[in-house]
Amino acid sequence: MNIDFANLQLQYQKYKTDIDINIQAVLNKSNYIMGEEIYELERALEEFTGAKYAITCSSGTDALLLAMMAMGVQPDDEIITTPFTFIATAETIALMKAKPVFIDIEPATFNIDANLIEAVITDKTKVIMPVSLYGQPADMDTIQAIADKHNLKVIIDGAQSFGSTYNDKTDSNLGDISTTSFFPAKPLGCYGDGGAVFTNNDEYARTIKMMRVHGQNKRYHHKYIGMGGRLDTIQAAILLAKLPHYPQELVDRQQVAKYYTDALSDSLQTPVVKSNRSSTWAQYTVRVSSRDSFQAKLKDNGVPTAVHYPMPLHLQECFQYLGFKQGDFPISEQVAQEVVSLPMNPFLTGEEIQYVARVLKISV
Ligand SMILES: Cc1ncc(COP(=O)(O)O)c(C=O)c1O
Repeated sequence: MNIDFANLQLQYQKYKTDIDINIQAVLNKSNYIMGEEIYELERALEEFTGAKYAITCSSGTDALLLAMMAMGVQPDDEIITTPFTFIATAETIALMKAKPVFIDIEPATFNIDANLIEAVITDKTKVIMPVSLYGQPADMDTIQAIADKHNLKVIIDGAQSFGSTYNDKTDSNLGDISTTSFFPAKPLGCYGDGGAVFTNNDEYARTIKMMRVHGQNKRYHHKYIGMGGRLDTIQAAILLAKLPHYPQELVDRQQVAKYYTDALSDSLQTPVVKSNRSSTWAQYTVRVSSRDSFQAKLKDNGVPTAVHYPMPLHLQECFQYLGFKQGDFPISEQVAQEVVSLPMNPFLTGEEIQYVARVLKISV
Protein backbone atom coordinates (compact mmCIF):
# COMPACT_ATOMS: atom_id res chain seq x y z
CA MET A 1 0.00 0.00 0.00
CA ASN A 2 1.21 3.55 -0.75
CA ILE A 3 -0.05 6.17 1.68
CA ASP A 4 -0.30 9.87 0.79
CA PHE A 5 0.87 12.30 3.51
CA ALA A 6 -1.53 15.22 2.97
CA ASN A 7 -3.44 13.98 -0.10
CA LEU A 8 -4.06 17.36 -1.73
CA GLN A 9 -4.98 15.70 -5.02
CA LEU A 10 -7.84 13.75 -3.49
CA GLN A 11 -8.92 16.90 -1.65
CA TYR A 12 -9.21 18.79 -4.94
CA GLN A 13 -11.13 15.92 -6.56
CA LYS A 14 -13.63 15.93 -3.66
CA TYR A 15 -14.40 19.65 -3.89
CA LYS A 16 -13.60 20.13 -7.60
CA THR A 17 -17.07 21.22 -8.73
CA ASP A 18 -17.36 24.08 -6.22
CA ILE A 19 -13.71 25.10 -6.52
CA ASP A 20 -13.84 25.22 -10.32
CA ILE A 21 -17.06 27.27 -10.31
CA ASN A 22 -15.57 29.75 -7.84
CA ILE A 23 -12.29 30.11 -9.74
CA GLN A 24 -14.15 30.54 -13.04
CA ALA A 25 -16.27 33.30 -11.49
CA VAL A 26 -13.13 35.25 -10.57
CA LEU A 27 -11.70 34.75 -14.06
CA ASN A 28 -14.95 35.94 -15.63
CA LYS A 29 -14.97 39.07 -13.46
CA SER A 30 -11.17 39.49 -13.60
CA ASN A 31 -11.33 40.95 -10.08
CA TYR A 32 -7.98 39.46 -9.14
CA ILE A 33 -6.97 41.94 -6.44
CA MET A 34 -9.24 42.56 -3.43
CA GLY A 35 -12.31 41.23 -5.27
CA GLU A 36 -15.58 40.72 -3.45
CA GLU A 37 -14.60 37.11 -2.58
CA ILE A 38 -11.98 38.52 -0.19
CA TYR A 39 -14.63 40.32 1.85
CA GLU A 40 -17.03 37.40 1.62
CA LEU A 41 -14.32 35.10 2.95
CA GLU A 42 -13.44 37.50 5.77
CA ARG A 43 -17.08 37.58 6.94
CA ALA A 44 -17.19 33.76 6.79
CA LEU A 45 -13.94 33.48 8.77
CA GLU A 46 -15.30 35.88 11.41
CA GLU A 47 -18.40 33.76 11.75
CA PHE A 48 -16.35 30.56 11.95
CA THR A 49 -13.88 31.82 14.54
CA GLY A 50 -16.01 34.21 16.60
CA ALA A 51 -13.30 36.88 16.20
CA LYS A 52 -14.63 40.38 15.53
CA TYR A 53 -12.22 40.88 12.62
CA ALA A 54 -10.67 38.44 10.17
CA ILE A 55 -8.27 40.16 7.79
CA THR A 56 -6.88 37.96 5.05
CA CYS A 57 -3.32 38.39 3.82
CA SER A 58 -0.60 36.94 1.63
CA SER A 59 0.76 34.24 3.99
CA GLY A 60 1.08 33.09 7.58
CA THR A 61 4.48 34.75 7.65
CA ASP A 62 3.08 38.10 6.53
CA ALA A 63 0.23 37.70 9.03
CA LEU A 64 2.84 37.72 11.82
CA LEU A 65 4.54 40.79 10.35
CA LEU A 66 1.20 42.61 10.04
CA ALA A 67 0.34 41.75 13.65
CA MET A 68 3.63 43.18 14.93
CA MET A 69 3.36 46.24 12.66
CA ALA A 70 -0.11 46.95 14.02
CA MET A 71 1.21 46.77 17.57
CA GLY A 72 4.02 49.16 16.72
CA VAL A 73 6.80 46.71 17.61
CA GLN A 74 10.05 48.72 17.65
CA PRO A 75 13.72 47.81 17.18
CA ASP A 76 15.11 46.18 20.34
CA ASP A 77 11.69 45.28 21.72
CA GLU A 78 11.84 41.78 23.17
CA ILE A 79 9.35 39.11 22.15
CA ILE A 80 9.16 35.91 24.16
CA THR A 81 8.57 32.78 22.09
CA THR A 82 9.41 29.12 21.63
CA PRO A 83 12.52 27.81 19.86
CA PHE A 84 10.61 24.68 18.77
CA THR A 85 8.61 26.01 15.84
CA PHE A 86 8.86 26.81 12.14
CA ILE A 87 11.41 29.51 11.34
CA ALA A 88 8.75 32.13 10.44
CA THR A 89 7.79 32.67 14.08
CA ALA A 90 11.16 34.10 15.08
CA GLU A 91 12.26 35.20 11.62
CA THR A 92 9.46 37.78 11.51
CA ILE A 93 10.43 39.06 14.97
CA ALA A 94 13.98 39.55 13.67
CA LEU A 95 12.68 41.20 10.49
CA MET A 96 10.95 43.75 12.72
CA LYS A 97 14.44 44.34 14.23
CA ALA A 98 13.03 43.12 17.54
CA LYS A 99 14.71 40.39 19.60
CA PRO A 100 13.36 36.84 19.86
CA VAL A 101 13.71 35.70 23.48
CA PHE A 102 13.43 31.92 23.54
CA ILE A 103 12.28 29.78 26.44
CA ASP A 104 11.93 26.01 26.52
CA ILE A 105 8.81 23.95 25.85
CA GLU A 106 6.58 21.50 27.74
CA PRO A 107 7.60 17.93 26.85
CA ALA A 108 3.98 16.71 26.65
CA THR A 109 2.49 19.25 24.24
CA PHE A 110 5.68 20.64 22.60
CA ASN A 111 4.27 24.12 23.27
CA ILE A 112 5.97 26.99 25.09
CA ASP A 113 6.31 26.33 28.84
CA ALA A 114 4.30 29.21 30.29
CA ASN A 115 5.90 28.71 33.70
CA LEU A 116 9.23 29.91 32.28
CA ILE A 117 7.93 33.21 30.89
CA GLU A 118 8.13 35.49 33.92
CA ALA A 119 11.82 34.77 34.50
CA VAL A 120 12.78 36.33 31.14
CA ILE A 121 10.55 39.43 31.24
CA THR A 122 12.56 42.68 31.18
CA ASP A 123 11.58 46.31 30.72
CA LYS A 124 12.07 45.76 26.96
CA THR A 125 9.58 42.90 26.72
CA LYS A 126 6.62 43.88 24.55
CA VAL A 127 4.91 40.71 23.34
CA ILE A 128 4.50 37.04 24.24
CA MET A 129 4.17 34.94 21.08
CA PRO A 130 2.99 31.38 21.74
CA VAL A 131 2.69 28.99 18.80
CA SER A 132 -0.18 26.47 18.66
CA LEU A 133 2.20 23.76 17.52
CA TYR A 134 0.84 20.85 15.47
CA GLY A 135 -2.59 22.44 15.94
CA GLN A 136 -2.97 22.57 19.74
CA PRO A 137 -3.13 25.94 21.56
CA ALA A 138 -0.59 26.60 24.30
CA ASP A 139 -1.47 27.25 27.97
CA MET A 140 -3.37 30.43 27.16
CA ASP A 141 -4.84 31.02 30.67
CA THR A 142 -1.38 31.27 32.20
CA ILE A 143 0.04 33.21 29.27
CA GLN A 144 -2.79 35.76 29.28
CA ALA A 145 -2.58 36.18 33.07
CA ILE A 146 1.17 36.92 32.82
CA ALA A 147 0.57 39.33 29.92
CA ASP A 148 -2.11 41.17 31.90
CA LYS A 149 0.07 41.36 35.01
CA HIS A 150 3.07 42.80 33.12
CA ASN A 151 1.12 44.87 30.60
CA LEU A 152 2.32 42.83 27.62
CA LYS A 153 0.56 41.95 24.38
CA VAL A 154 -0.09 38.42 23.12
CA ILE A 155 0.21 37.37 19.48
CA ILE A 156 -0.73 33.75 18.81
CA ASP A 157 1.06 32.13 15.89
CA GLY A 158 -1.87 29.95 14.87
CA ALA A 159 -0.45 29.00 11.46
CA GLN A 160 -1.17 25.33 12.19
CA SER A 161 -4.28 25.63 14.33
CA PHE A 162 -7.13 27.26 12.42
CA GLY A 163 -10.31 25.94 14.09
CA SER A 164 -8.66 24.56 17.24
CA THR A 165 -10.26 25.47 20.56
CA TYR A 166 -9.22 26.43 24.06
CA ASN A 167 -11.95 26.50 26.73
CA ASP A 168 -14.46 26.42 23.85
CA LYS A 169 -13.12 29.52 22.09
CA THR A 170 -11.25 29.17 18.81
CA ASP A 171 -7.62 30.15 19.13
CA SER A 172 -8.27 32.83 16.50
CA ASN A 173 -10.36 34.48 19.21
CA LEU A 174 -7.67 34.53 21.91
CA GLY A 175 -4.79 36.86 22.70
CA ASP A 176 -4.64 40.40 21.33
CA ILE A 177 -4.00 39.20 17.78
CA SER A 178 -3.97 35.70 16.37
CA THR A 179 -2.74 34.61 12.95
CA THR A 180 -3.09 31.66 10.64
CA SER A 181 -1.66 30.24 7.43
CA PHE A 182 -3.58 28.89 4.45
CA PHE A 183 -0.47 27.22 2.97
CA PRO A 184 -1.79 24.24 0.93
CA ALA A 185 -0.74 21.55 3.41
CA LYS A 186 -2.20 23.39 6.42
CA PRO A 187 -5.48 22.03 7.86
CA LEU A 188 -7.41 24.69 5.92
CA GLY A 189 -5.22 25.39 2.91
CA CYS A 190 -5.65 27.36 -0.29
CA TYR A 191 -3.82 26.48 -3.52
CA GLY A 192 -0.90 28.87 -3.15
CA ASP A 193 0.22 31.14 -0.32
CA GLY A 194 -2.32 32.77 1.99
CA GLY A 195 -2.99 33.70 5.58
CA ALA A 196 -5.15 35.71 7.93
CA VAL A 197 -4.95 37.92 11.00
CA PHE A 198 -7.68 37.87 13.66
CA THR A 199 -8.42 40.40 16.38
CA ASN A 200 -11.23 41.84 18.48
CA ASN A 201 -9.45 45.20 18.67
CA ASP A 202 -10.88 47.93 16.39
CA GLU A 203 -7.65 49.93 16.23
CA TYR A 204 -5.48 46.92 15.36
CA ALA A 205 -7.96 45.86 12.66
CA ARG A 206 -7.96 49.32 11.11
CA THR A 207 -4.17 49.45 11.07
CA ILE A 208 -3.72 45.90 9.71
CA LYS A 209 -6.10 46.66 6.82
CA MET A 210 -3.93 49.66 5.91
CA MET A 211 -0.64 47.83 6.48
CA ARG A 212 -1.53 45.04 4.05
CA VAL A 213 -1.97 47.65 1.28
CA HIS A 214 1.26 49.60 1.71
CA GLY A 215 0.00 51.52 4.73
CA GLN A 216 -2.43 53.47 2.59
CA ASN A 217 -5.54 55.10 4.04
CA LYS A 218 -6.71 56.27 0.66
CA ARG A 219 -5.42 55.50 -2.82
CA TYR A 220 -1.80 56.64 -3.15
CA HIS A 221 -1.88 58.25 0.32
CA HIS A 222 0.31 56.31 2.72
CA LYS A 223 -0.13 56.83 6.43
CA TYR A 224 2.31 54.05 7.39
CA ILE A 225 5.22 52.10 5.96
CA GLY A 226 3.29 48.93 5.13
CA MET A 227 3.65 46.04 2.71
CA GLY A 228 2.10 44.32 -0.31
CA GLY A 229 0.33 41.77 1.83
CA ARG A 230 -3.03 41.00 0.20
CA LEU A 231 -4.53 37.57 -0.38
CA ASP A 232 -5.29 36.87 -4.07
CA THR A 233 -9.00 36.83 -4.95
CA ILE A 234 -8.58 33.41 -6.57
CA GLN A 235 -7.25 31.99 -3.30
CA ALA A 236 -10.21 33.52 -1.43
CA ALA A 237 -12.56 31.88 -3.95
CA ILE A 238 -10.91 28.49 -3.33
CA LEU A 239 -11.15 28.93 0.45
CA LEU A 240 -14.82 29.90 0.13
CA ALA A 241 -15.45 26.58 -1.63
CA LYS A 242 -13.51 24.64 1.01
CA LEU A 243 -14.63 26.32 4.23
CA PRO A 244 -18.13 24.72 4.39
CA HIS A 245 -16.45 21.26 4.38
CA TYR A 246 -13.93 22.21 7.06
CA PRO A 247 -15.98 21.39 10.19
CA GLN A 248 -16.41 17.81 8.92
CA GLU A 249 -12.70 17.66 8.02
CA LEU A 250 -11.84 18.61 11.60
CA VAL A 251 -14.07 15.78 12.88
CA ASP A 252 -12.39 13.36 10.47
CA ARG A 253 -8.90 14.51 11.48
CA GLN A 254 -9.91 13.93 15.08
CA GLN A 255 -11.03 10.41 14.17
CA VAL A 256 -7.77 9.66 12.35
CA ALA A 257 -5.80 10.87 15.39
CA LYS A 258 -7.90 8.68 17.69
CA TYR A 259 -7.33 5.61 15.49
CA TYR A 260 -3.59 6.25 15.55
CA THR A 261 -3.50 6.77 19.31
CA ASP A 262 -5.60 3.67 20.03
CA ALA A 263 -3.39 1.57 17.78
CA LEU A 264 -0.02 2.97 18.87
CA SER A 265 -0.11 4.18 22.45
CA ASP A 266 1.16 0.87 23.87
CA SER A 267 4.26 0.87 21.63
CA LEU A 268 5.08 4.56 21.03
CA GLN A 269 4.95 7.96 22.72
CA THR A 270 1.76 9.38 21.16
CA PRO A 271 0.64 13.05 21.27
CA VAL A 272 -1.06 14.55 24.32
CA VAL A 273 -3.92 17.03 23.92
CA LYS A 274 -4.90 18.79 27.15
CA SER A 275 -8.52 18.38 28.28
CA ASN A 276 -9.53 22.05 27.83
CA ARG A 277 -8.26 22.15 24.22
CA SER A 278 -8.79 20.63 20.82
CA SER A 279 -6.18 20.20 18.12
CA THR A 280 -6.60 20.58 14.37
CA TRP A 281 -4.03 17.79 14.04
CA ALA A 282 -2.01 19.78 11.54
CA GLN A 283 0.51 17.08 12.36
CA TYR A 284 0.19 13.78 14.22
CA THR A 285 3.64 13.61 15.75
CA VAL A 286 5.15 10.76 17.76
CA ARG A 287 8.53 10.43 19.46
CA VAL A 288 11.00 7.64 18.67
CA SER A 289 14.60 7.11 19.73
CA SER A 290 16.07 5.78 16.45
CA ARG A 291 14.37 8.13 14.04
CA ASP A 292 16.43 7.54 10.90
CA SER A 293 15.94 3.77 10.81
CA PHE A 294 12.29 4.16 11.84
CA GLN A 295 11.64 6.53 8.93
CA ALA A 296 13.55 4.30 6.51
CA LYS A 297 11.48 1.23 7.44
CA LEU A 298 8.25 3.16 7.02
CA LYS A 299 9.37 4.51 3.68
CA ASP A 300 10.20 0.99 2.46
CA ASN A 301 6.63 0.04 3.26
CA GLY A 302 5.03 2.98 1.43
CA VAL A 303 4.43 5.16 4.50
CA PRO A 304 5.85 8.70 4.14
CA THR A 305 6.88 10.64 7.26
CA ALA A 306 8.24 14.13 7.97
CA VAL A 307 10.19 15.82 10.73
CA HIS A 308 8.76 19.02 12.21
CA TYR A 309 11.39 20.26 13.12
CA PRO A 310 14.90 18.77 13.14
CA MET A 311 16.73 21.78 14.60
CA PRO A 312 15.39 24.22 17.21
CA LEU A 313 15.63 27.86 16.24
CA HIS A 314 18.22 28.89 18.86
CA LEU A 315 20.74 26.60 17.11
CA GLN A 316 20.03 27.85 13.58
CA GLU A 317 22.89 29.64 11.86
CA CYS A 318 20.78 32.74 11.22
CA PHE A 319 20.23 33.20 14.97
CA GLN A 320 23.84 32.73 16.07
CA TYR A 321 23.98 36.46 16.79
CA LEU A 322 21.59 35.90 19.70
CA GLY A 323 24.36 33.99 21.48
CA PHE A 324 22.50 30.81 22.40
CA LYS A 325 24.31 27.47 22.49
CA GLN A 326 23.62 23.74 22.59
CA GLY A 327 22.18 22.85 26.00
CA ASP A 328 20.29 26.12 26.53
CA PHE A 329 16.88 24.55 25.84
CA PRO A 330 17.30 20.84 26.54
CA ILE A 331 13.69 19.78 25.99
CA SER A 332 13.48 21.45 22.59
CA GLU A 333 16.83 19.93 21.64
CA GLN A 334 15.80 16.45 22.75
CA VAL A 335 12.41 16.43 21.00
CA ALA A 336 13.97 17.83 17.82
CA GLN A 337 15.99 14.57 17.70
CA GLU A 338 12.96 12.34 18.25
CA VAL A 339 9.81 13.74 16.62
CA VAL A 340 8.29 12.16 13.53
CA SER A 341 5.02 13.20 11.90
CA LEU A 342 2.83 10.49 10.39
CA PRO A 343 0.56 10.80 7.36
CA MET A 344 -2.37 12.98 8.43
CA ASN A 345 -5.33 14.11 6.37
CA PRO A 346 -9.09 13.79 6.75
CA PHE A 347 -9.34 11.36 3.81
CA LEU A 348 -7.30 8.51 5.31
CA THR A 349 -9.47 5.39 5.40
CA GLY A 350 -9.75 2.99 8.35
CA GLU A 351 -7.93 0.39 6.25
CA GLU A 352 -5.06 2.79 5.51
CA ILE A 353 -4.70 3.77 9.16
CA GLN A 354 -4.68 0.12 10.25
CA TYR A 355 -1.97 -0.52 7.64
CA VAL A 356 0.13 2.42 8.86
CA ALA A 357 -0.31 1.27 12.47
CA ARG A 358 0.82 -2.28 11.57
CA VAL A 359 3.89 -1.00 9.73
CA LEU A 360 4.68 1.36 12.61
CA LYS A 361 4.59 -1.42 15.17
CA ILE A 362 7.12 -3.51 13.29
CA SER A 363 9.32 -0.44 12.67
CA VAL A 364 9.73 0.84 16.27
C1 LIG B 1 4.25 27.82 13.16
C2 LIG B 1 4.25 28.48 11.82
N1 LIG B 1 4.34 29.83 11.75
C3 LIG B 1 4.33 30.47 10.57
C4 LIG B 1 4.24 29.79 9.38
C5 LIG B 1 4.30 30.56 8.10
O1 LIG B 1 3.17 30.38 7.29
P1 LIG B 1 3.31 30.58 5.70
O2 LIG B 1 4.03 29.39 5.17
O3 LIG B 1 1.89 30.65 5.25
O4 LIG B 1 4.04 31.84 5.47
C6 LIG B 1 4.15 28.40 9.39
C7 LIG B 1 4.06 27.63 8.13
O5 LIG B 1 4.53 26.54 8.00
C8 LIG B 1 4.15 27.73 10.64
O6 LIG B 1 4.06 26.39 10.71
